[in-house]
Amino acid sequence: MRDGFFELIDFGEKFLSKHGVKMARFETMILAEKTLNMQRLEFFTNSEILLDRNKKKKILKRLFKRTEGRPISKICGKKEFFSNEFFVSDNVLDPRPESEIVVEVIKKITDNYLNKNLRILDLGTGSGCLLISLFLELKNFYVRGIGIDISESALKIAKKNLKKFDLTKELLLKKSDWFSNVHGKFDIILSNPPYIETSDISKLQREVRDYDPYISLNGGVDGLRAYREISLRVKRFLNKDGILCFEIGKGQYDLINKIFYKNGFKLIYKEKDLQGIDRVVVYKLN
Ligand SMILES: C[S@@+](CC[C@H](N)C(=O)[O-])C[C@H]1O[C@@H](n2cnc3c(N)ncnc32)[C@H](O)[C@@H]1O
Repeated sequence: MRDGFFELIDFGEKFLSKHGVKMARFETMILAEKTLNMQRLEFFTNSEILLDRNKKKKILKRLFKRTEGRPISKICGKKEFFSNEFFVSDNVLDPRPESEIVVEVIKKITDNYLNKNLRILDLGTGSGCLLISLFLELKNFYVRGIGIDISESALKIAKKNLKKFDLTKELLLKKSDWFSNVHGKFDIILSNPPYIETSDISKLQREVRDYDPYISLNGGVDGLRAYREISLRVKRFLNKDGILCFEIGKGQYDLINKIFYKNGFKLIYKEKDLQGIDRVVVYKLN
């Protein structure tokens, strides 16, 4: 029944905006779309949308969760990254659009690689979105990869995603405190580590502060703890011509360069995000 559907959308719009959600109609549509497993166009072209009591109830419940600040991705358990949908939960960082630059940069750099066998290590894999997207994008390569994380609950979500993309043979997951449980050498080591200064976490918008795991945000007093720890130990895990690729936070570019130069690396590439912020850096052994 089409009847009732747009009333529900109208209600959702009012309800969400009353609770301070911007773009309330748009968000209501997305919640409905995801709950009913439908594409937007279908709402407008299909006069037979079935909206039984249970579905209505489910949408209303989800609208209520949204008013508490929970992001849509965490309500529905799914988030788009690099044109694919990944499972997410409260135990993993929501994949961010700016992290897609990490995948784009690595793709660009490896474009003219002659060696077609690539071993990849993803430090702090979270949902596994970077490692999986890279695997799917590096189609001309024979890729084998490992994603590590200190959080077991994050690894459970990453495992779910590996299964979804049927990559459980090609990509491995391990619990590890950075390199504590990593063996062997890699051609590409990448990471989007926690890089928010501890004192800034409370100032983040509530969707992030309250629903992304603290461990995925907290970069220590100056936000650079993970870069320091990784830079000190990474050398022996990198092949001679291997690259290190990191996502970095606003204003961290110079400081992170210093850390890596001091530990024997040279910058070979950097990329800004859409706001002009230095967002991704790539290093090689000096
Ligand atoms: C910013 S999140 C990135 C998640 C994912 N790679 C992404 O880009 O969406 C950082 C990840 O690092 C993990 N992490 C934090 N400290 C760690 C450590 N000492 N060793 C391994 N992983 C760690 C967190 O659990 C979290 O999953």
